[in-house]
Amino acid sequence: MKITSAAAVLLSVGFLGNLSLADSEGIIKYRKNVMKTNAGHMGAIMDILKNHLPLETHVVDHARSINQNSKMILSMFPKGSDFGDTKAKPAIWKNWSKFETASKAFVRESATLAKVAESGDMKAFAKQVRATGKTCGGCHKHFKERE
Ligand code: HEC
Repeated sequence: MKITSAAAVLLSVGFLGNLSLADSEGIIKYRKNVMKTNAGHMGAIMDILKNHLPLETHVVDHARSINQNSKMILSMFPKGSDFGDTKAKPAIWKNWSKFETASKAFVRESATLAKVAESGDMKAFAKQVRATGKTCGGCHKHFKERE
């Protein structure tokens, strides 16, 4: 490796643990897409519940997908990914442990969501959808700029 490219790598990934602008834009785009799938699965669940669609068995897969997504959250917000077209507040990195707590609440409630979905008890499921939704809103309230 040439000295210059080694230095470039150090600058882009290693230096002060920050990402280069290009890296930051890439991960911002990625995490927005993952977040959109969260909203898509929640919306699909609401469609099934509200319109009494005969697709109740589908909620298991939607709930599991949300739970899988929840485990990706912390790794989608590396230090330095706060510049570019993002609504992520600097509070995430200033208050990382609080962000971790919000993320853990989402992991926990969505794990319960998947379990209750498997049980087939739709009344309990609707209740757990609300509990899970609260963890989305709870995190956004502190860590995401309003639209
Ligand atoms: C631990 C915090 C956290 C949790 C939990 C969380 N989000 Fe987010 N979400 C964020 C942050 C921060 C952003 C802003 C990301 C950015 O703009 O870089 C965001 C962005 C979004 C966006 C906008 C994406 C875009 O295209 O700009 C949607 C939609 C969204 N979240 C939906 C959800 C839903 C639905 C849930 C729950 C099922 C959820 N989020 C749970 C932190 C969270």
